[in-house]
Parts: sequence; C-alpha cells; structure tokens
Amino acid sequence: MFTEAQLYSPVSKGADGDVTVHLSDEHPGVHDPAYRARRNAIAALALNYRTGEPVPHIEYTAEEEQVWRIVAAELARKRERYACAEVIEAADRLSLPADHIPQLSEVSAKLVPLTGFRYVPAAGLVPLREFFGSFADRIFHSTQYIRHHSAPLYTPEPDAVHEILGHANQLASPRFAALYETVGAAVARISTETALKFLADVFWFSMEFGVLREHGEVRCYGAGLLSSYGEIEEFRAAELRPLNIREMGTRAYDITHYQPVLYCAESVDEIEEVVGGFFATMTDDSVAELVETV
Ligand SMILES: [Fe+2]
Repeated sequence: MFTEAQLYSPVSKGADGDVTVHLSDEHPGVHDPAYRARRNAIAALALNYRTGEPVPHIEYTAEEEQVWRIVAAELARKRERYACAEVIEAADRLSLPADHIPQLSEVSAKLVPLTGFRYVPAAGLVPLREFFGSFADRIFHSTQYIRHHSAPLYTPEPDAVHEILGHANQLASPRFAALYETVGAAVARISTETALKFLADVFWFSMEFGVLREHGEVRCYGAGLLSSYGEIEEFRAAELRPLNIREMGTRAYDITHYQPVLYCAESVDEIEEVVGGFFATMTDDSVAELVETV
C-alpha cells in the first residue's frame, strides 16, 4: 500500500500560460477535479513568484486545514517517541501551529530568530543546484500544497507537511541549520553533475533519512522520516550501517519504498564531523576519487 515518497509531481506551463500539475495515476487526488484545480492554482502562484516579492498567501480551505490538524497531531506524538533530542528540542522552540497550516511567511517569522532560515515558495521540484545552493543564504524552497483529504496520513510526494513539519523542525536546530549552510557552500565549489548528484545522495541518507543512536535507542533526525507517519515507525526495522560517505553518495535507492538500509550516527557530533566535514571540504576532484574507487 505504501509508496510514500519524495518524488515531486511534474509541473508544466502551457503556451496559454496555464499551469498543470501532473499527478501520478496512484495519487489519492488524481480523480478529484477540485483537488487538481487547486493544485494547479497553488503551483501557478509559486511559478509566478519572483525573489524579493512577498511570499504568496494561500487561503487554505477548511478541508485542507483539517488534514493538517490530523497529521500534525499524529506526527507530534510520533516525534516524541522516535525523534532525537536535538530535533525534539528544536521543534519545541519553533512551536509550529497544530491548528492551522502555517503560511510560509509564518514559518520564516518563527525560524529566522532561531537560525536565520527563510522559506520561499516552490511549485514542485526545484533544480538541485538551486535547491541546495540556496542553503548558503539560509533559504529553503518549499511547496505549499497539501496532500489529498482522503488520505491525511499518506502522501506520494513531498507536501507542506514534509517541508514544514519535517524540514522546519530540523532547521530550527542551530547545529542542523549550520550543516545545511555548509551544503549550500559546497554547491558553489562544485561544477560536475557527478559531484552534485553525490552531494544530493549524501544529503538524502543524512538530512532526509538519517538516524542516530541516543541512550541506547535508534532515533531519527532526517526530515523524510520526521514527516512520514508510516516510515517513522519502520526505520528501526531497516538495516543500520555506520556513516560511510562513499556508500551514502553512491548507493542506489528506490524513493518510492521505505528505505531498507539507513546510516546511523552515534551522535549529533558524529553527524557534524563526518557528514558536515565531508560537505565542508568536498570538491569535484574529491568526489571523483570516491566514485572511482567504488
Ligand atoms: Fe525533503
């Protein structure tokens, strides 16, 4: 049943200027014309956004707000049980609303005093170089749509729940925010597609699906796990391996299924040393060497 994923639905703009979000055949909202029109309208707002303008305000419907209330309450409970202390404390300081979907401007207003990160709108997938590179300026590109109301605890694509309850709770930690900035600085140093893909994959196995040991228990810090009602309970069943940059950067993975192999740090210190240390020093050449020796 679960193909919970990180795969954005493609967005296109026709010659007439009409914006269309192409939902997959399995998407819970694919046969709901009202939902599809809604998705197109929200994507159009993001596509028309220009840097420096006010972030588009979305008038969320009662149905959308209800989806948020359900999933925010469930994920808050699961976070207490499965997330690491660094994330739980960051989420407590950020204190995102549980009763309504926060506008991106509201997320930024809460995050900026903590770590300086600001949210800007994205229609869907942002080119990797732009998405990761913007971390250098403490900017995070975020979608604004929300999953279909028929399945509030499931989404086949990253939605506001993932971007906000996953990433913003992580970005409220000064330690994780600094690591994101290091990723952004690395993007400015690299030029090959191989190095960019390697960076994205190390990020995937750390900031999206990373876990760490804490008081003898495995706890998560990755945004993909923090925002997944199903996977947050399953990660303890995964094969856990010690941090290994070469493996993380070259391992093939299927983003439509729960991850069978996860990389487990012994502490936030180790994430900073190994993952942060890699991002801080990576170059096209250092990645080429790592890839060659696989
Ligand atoms: Fe993400």
